[in-house]
Amino acid sequence: MIPIAQINFDGREIEAVCRVIRSGHWRMGAVAEKFERRFAHAVGARHAVAVSSGTAALFLAFKTLLRPGDEVIVPDFTFVATASMAIAAAARPVFADVDPRTFTLDPRDAERRITRRTRALAPVHLYGMPADIRALTRLARRHGLKIIWDAAQAHGARFGGKDVGAFPDVVCYSFYPSKNMTTGEGGMLTTSDATLARELRLLRSHGESSRYFHERLGFNFRPTDIGSALGIVQLGKLPAALRARQRNARVLARGVGSVPGIEVPEERRGRTSAYNSFTVRINPEILGVARDELQQALGRRGIETAVHYPRPLHRQPTFRGLGRDKDFPVSTRLAQTVLSLPVHSRLSRTDLERIIKADRSPSGVLPKSPAQPAQVKFFFRPNGKATGQRLQKLGAAHEDAAVEFREGKALGRAPLTADNFRPSANVIHQTRGLA
Ligand SMILES: Cc1ncc(COP(=O)(O)O)c(C=O)c1O
Repeated sequence: MIPIAQINFDGREIEAVCRVIRSGHWRMGAVAEKFERRFAHAVGARHAVAVSSGTAALFLAFKTLLRPGDEVIVPDFTFVATASMAIAAAARPVFADVDPRTFTLDPRDAERRITRRTRALAPVHLYGMPADIRALTRLARRHGLKIIWDAAQAHGARFGGKDVGAFPDVVCYSFYPSKNMTTGEGGMLTTSDATLARELRLLRSHGESSRYFHERLGFNFRPTDIGSALGIVQLGKLPAALRARQRNARVLARGVGSVPGIEVPEERRGRTSAYNSFTVRINPEILGVARDELQQALGRRGIETAVHYPRPLHRQPTFRGLGRDKDFPVSTRLAQTVLSLPVHSRLSRTDLERIIKADRSPSGVLPKSPAQPAQVKFFFRPNGKATGQRLQKLGAAHEDAAVEFREGKALGRAPLTADNFRPSANVIHQTRGLA
């Protein structure tokens, strides 16, 4: 199996960890400080504060920059922690839609969601692709907002020639094993604001400014020296790993990008992706295969893929009430159509060729004759305008299929006939492929 992620590991990590273990100093100390200095230098920020996870980094950022009840604008399409940590810090996430090409926070939609309680933006450099830092920074300035960048997937990504870790106000990283560099579990915050860095350090360790003197209500989000030793080695290898990821991404884009119905990531001008994921977007109507079927078929061919993420945040039970599909059309559609292919630094030429070949013949990767006639599910955009021609075409092609109609709610199943097509409905998604 070609794995979707693989740790960029060699003997150097073992030596570094053994040195710390032999020293007897395992908890946070000199090695963690060295890791922080090296990380700050690598991204071009004045300060770096190491913590126990990316989630802890986000929590501390929200906790230090926001007051209870403050609103923070979060993309609807991201990992759960970007929003859940805002809530944990007593703030209120307000979801905004994402740009259909970069999958990152759409500055115009974000602006529409600003209220008098909004205090911050929390854009995510999703899959390693920088968000529109210029537009979002302008937006934040115009409205007096702070920015908490979620760079959990973006170690080494650049915008306008500058590392994403060097932008104000604070940038949060994760060192989870699927990331471009890892410490097993771990995280980092970077900032050039000395007061904020001090506050982050206080809260990271019980609000303690000197031995048993607690200035603030704090936590234990400290990293260990063992993990930091891994971090130093991994950071040293990051530039070469990034070059490999970028090279792999170029090969994949060339190989897969010309397949009708598969859209590959695109680096807009001035942006350099860290390619933590190479996430394509499937158009099932053109490809003739739905995302989930393509994923299963690739799995059968020994290619592990992943869906980041199968649900937009507003559809997560924990965020119920924070919006509906119609409020986030791009994010809702992406959750049904994105698929991440392996792009990690350990892929060989042969691996890349196998991935490309399988993707280029999506129908070839499907089983020859499905046991059951295909069941097709269409999703309708509420109050959408009729696109008669397209509906008719689909109707003609699948007259014997069972169909579930949805307009926000399920309307039941019915054999597909011309009458089933509601003239007010507009097909936006078809979940199951047509064999
Ligand atoms: C976008 C994003 N934010 C936050 C996190 C949380 O990081 P961690 O898993 O280190 O807590 C992750 C990690 O999966 C992530 O991908």
